[in-house]
Amino acid sequence: MGFKHSLLTGLAVLTTITQAVQLFSNTGTTSGWSSIQTEHNGQVTQVTNVVGEGTTALKMTQTYDSSYTGRYHSEVHVDNAYSIGDQRFYGFLFRLSSDWQSDPAQGYNLAQFIGDFSAITTCDGWMPSTMIWVVGNQLYTRLKTGSVCSQTTTQISTGVTVTPGEWHKIVVQASWQSNTSGFFKLWYDGTKVVEQYNVATTVAEDIPFQFRVGLYANSWYDEHQMKGTQPFRQVWFDEIAFGTTFADADPSQW
Ligand SMILES: *[C@@H]1O[C@H](CO)[C@@H](O)[C@H](O)[C@H]1NC(C)=O
Repeated sequence: MGFKHSLLTGLAVLTTITQAVQLFSNTGTTSGWSSIQTEHNGQVTQVTNVVGEGTTALKMTQTYDSSYTGRYHSEVHVDNAYSIGDQRFYGFLFRLSSDWQSDPAQGYNLAQFIGDFSAITTCDGWMPSTMIWVVGNQLYTRLKTGSVCSQTTTQISTGVTVTPGEWHKIVVQASWQSNTSGFFKLWYDGTKVVEQYNVATTVAEDIPFQFRVGLYANSWYDEHQMKGTQPFRQVWFDEIAFGTTFADADPSQW
């Protein structure tokens, strides 16, 4: 009885311990990523002069070029960030340059989940599900549901006004489900600003999604133009992580 009890207690402790798993972490360095993507004049560099925590951060830049017709990614990628059925937390710090021009408003993506569907369908290739971005100084996110051949995108306004030149913290929790058994939450600087239950959070096709952070100046490509007068854009990132508990992803806790 005593042995059985302590065995059960031991198993319970083990279960609790193994449930908290940090699956990925990066302290603002260019090492350890599945891949690093820079398009056209974009750059991803490890810096020590502007950091969110510790001694290093990642600086992502993009430069508009009216004679270039391609996309503008400056991102770091980590594979296998989710599959259907996973319930995980993702976190990072970011800082827009202090002179970030937000008027006139145009969208700049900061983080995204994306999968390569080219092997299983001709409807799409690399398809992002949830993205996190600013338009002007407002923060948005979204859910992508349905199927790759019939995508439904639901934009979510966070109500957050982002202050350029300051480090900000984002933590996302998602239960990734293609039916309405999922949920999605987003914390900004420690305050929960999005909380949706009983929602689909991804498409029906189950392939592993990457988690990416970085500056992706997607509006320059999508809108075939740059608005405003700031063709050189800089965003810093630091303390990028994901895992099974809030503490695994929260930059303040690991
Ligand atoms: C939703 O899908 C999951 C598989 O990811 C399944 O286990 C669950 O029973 C489904 N729920 C509903 C309400 O259909």
